[in-house]
Amino acid sequence: MSIATVLIVLFPLRVVWKFVRVEPRALPGTPGWQRTLATGIHNLIYVTIFAVLASGFLMVPNGYSFFGLIEIHTPFPKGALTDELFTVHRASCALLAGLVALHVLAVIKHQLIARNDVLRRML
Ligand code: HEM
Ligand code: HEM
Repeated sequence: MSIATVLIVLFPLRVVWKFVRVEPRALPGTPGWQRTLATGIHNLIYVTIFAVLASGFLMVPNGYSFFGLIEIHTPFPKGALTDELFTVHRASCALLAGLVALHVLAVIKHQLIARNDVLRRML
């Protein structure tokens, strides 16, 4: 939970960075539908990460300790709502795992088969 709490801070910074950075130019030779699909999946990954982090935080009843240093308060006592949020947490984690698997397969395909140096775009 403490490690995931660090991600709660980093994730909004990453989203801000997405909007202020200069986007890499579109990969040469990729058809429009592939670019649309890639952008769609990337956006879905962002939304899913948000769902994982928000549900994870909100489902914890009665707060928790951040690396034993400070007490973090959470809004809901244990009950039907926190149970529902756990279901959302599980489902969004599973979805994220599937999307990341698809994402890594796409990178392998581009790097090794299409050989268009997609990895460079992570820099
Ligand atoms: C990228 C962020 C996160 C990932 C990948 C993640 C992943 C997971 C996974 C895979 C489980 C096991 C689900 C199951 O048992 O089926 C889990 C459970 C749990 N997560 Fe997260 N989580 C994240 C963020 C958070 C956050 C932000 C919190 C709270 C601050 C949190 C609190 C918990 C707790 C308390 C459980 C155990 C629930 C239980 O068994 O009763 N998670 N998480
Ligand atoms: C072996 C692991 C990974 C590799 C090699 C990899 C590689 C890449 C590459 C090459 C891009 C650029 C694609 C482009 O600009 O067209 C990218 C973008 C992206 N990756 Fe990954 N990735 C990995 C893991 C992950 C994981 C674990 C996540 C999320 C949990 C993730 C989320 C994203 C997102 C959201 C983008 C889009 C960024 C943007 O332009 O807004 N990646 N990745």
